[in-house]
Amino acid sequence: MDNQGQKSRSSFSGKIGFVLAAAGSAVGLGNIWRFPYLAAKYGGGTFLLVYIILAVTFGFALMITEIAIGRKTRLSAIGAYGALDKRWSFLGKLASAVPMIIFPYYCVIGGWVTKYLVVFATGNSAAAAGDTYFTDFIARPLEPLGWFFLFIAATVIIVLFGVEKGIEKSSKFLMPILAVLSVVIAIYTCCLPGALEGIKYYFVPDFSDFSPMVILAALGQLFYSLSLAMGIMITYGSYMKKEVDLEKSVHQIEIFDVGIALVAGLMIVPAVFVFSGGKGDAINAGAGLMFITLPKVFDSMPLSNLVGACFFLLVLFAALTSSISLMETVVSILQDKLKWNRKVTCIVVAVCALLIGVPSSLGHGLWSGFQPLGMSILDFFDFISNSVLMPIIALLTCIFVAFFIGMDQITDEVKVSSNFAGEKLYRLITKYLAPVCIFAILVSSILNSLKIIVI
Ligand code: PHE
Repeated sequence: MDNQGQKSRSSFSGKIGFVLAAAGSAVGLGNIWRFPYLAAKYGGGTFLLVYIILAVTFGFALMITEIAIGRKTRLSAIGAYGALDKRWSFLGKLASAVPMIIFPYYCVIGGWVTKYLVVFATGNSAAAAGDTYFTDFIARPLEPLGWFFLFIAATVIIVLFGVEKGIEKSSKFLMPILAVLSVVIAIYTCCLPGALEGIKYYFVPDFSDFSPMVILAALGQLFYSLSLAMGIMITYGSYMKKEVDLEKSVHQIEIFDVGIALVAGLMIVPAVFVFSGGKGDAINAGAGLMFITLPKVFDSMPLSNLVGACFFLLVLFAALTSSISLMETVVSILQDKLKWNRKVTCIVVAVCALLIGVPSSLGHGLWSGFQPLGMSILDFFDFISNSVLMPIIALLTCIFVAFFIGMDQITDEVKVSSNFAGEKLYRLITKYLAPVCIFAILVSSILNSLKIIVI
């Protein structure tokens, strides 16, 4: 299988091709929807500081590891770990399970974005800015389901008919527009009267907000946003040419991804202070924050419907490129394992995702009485993948590299095309810091959430 994999594997056209494709998968709802609500909830500046420290240490090390494993083995996650050490093939399976959990609920949120695009495009900005507009919407039994079906159908059609190329091409110019529009909106938000307090909250850490949960949330968000700890970067690495500078590419993807998240936070967090005083419920609004706060910002702008419609259209594109990469991963894993044809696999994946996504969609209305671990169903899936499975996979990956296959396997692969200035840092993190810290974070936050010890 290895040889066949090597021969038939296509490559990205070069350095920029790889960076853009990886950034297309990385930049998505994670940056624009998930990052700001976590930053608002977990203390603003404190979360930001922890996030940036984790990005340049753990994020850097894990991304190098995953891309190098992929480029070395020329296999996707499910085969790659096993190819390096048979006993570890279970880790490939575990990593491959994560996109299957994320994909359905990602499409539920994608549906919400589609709804907001239509709301603004039809000139209803004032209604969307209403206090209970979002909560009323997600509590309805049927409407959110309809939007969810629509979003998943769009993803499936693109993957099924193989028109990703077109989508990817258009996202190459739409993504920079999204970045520019976000900067403009962020500047506008920050100039609103009363925004200063929010800007302070966002940038100045207050260490009384600090807890293991903050680190765990930041760590899960980092993996999610960079598409790490779920095998995706291994697959992307397997398409990367040997002459591309791996270390430099990792830096570029990180700068791009973290940059967009920072701006998205600046667009949303100060606005919470402007419109709701930044207290209690408003700051803790969670998954709905983007849909509650941004419409208020747009509604206060000139040409509100146009700005809102453009913004949600661009976010929809970012979400689609990510959902395509999620679905592609699931489809190719199943195809590799079960040897089904592509069409059948796509349809099976779509039907499963529909069935699994329905509870996430209904969890805010009809089924809101059902609260696993005290969370909504969507939050529960999000928690299991991001705060439980991904840190465990990251921890095991570090142990696998440092103590089983040997770090030279990875560093040699990186050095094929890069002088690897960060090698010392990489070794220190992968062998000592990451295993110890991730283990400690996991244990303390599990104890914390079970209320055994309160830190
Ligand atoms: N990284 C993507 C985002 O930020 C989400 C994603 C996760 C995409 C996993 C693909 C795979 O939205």
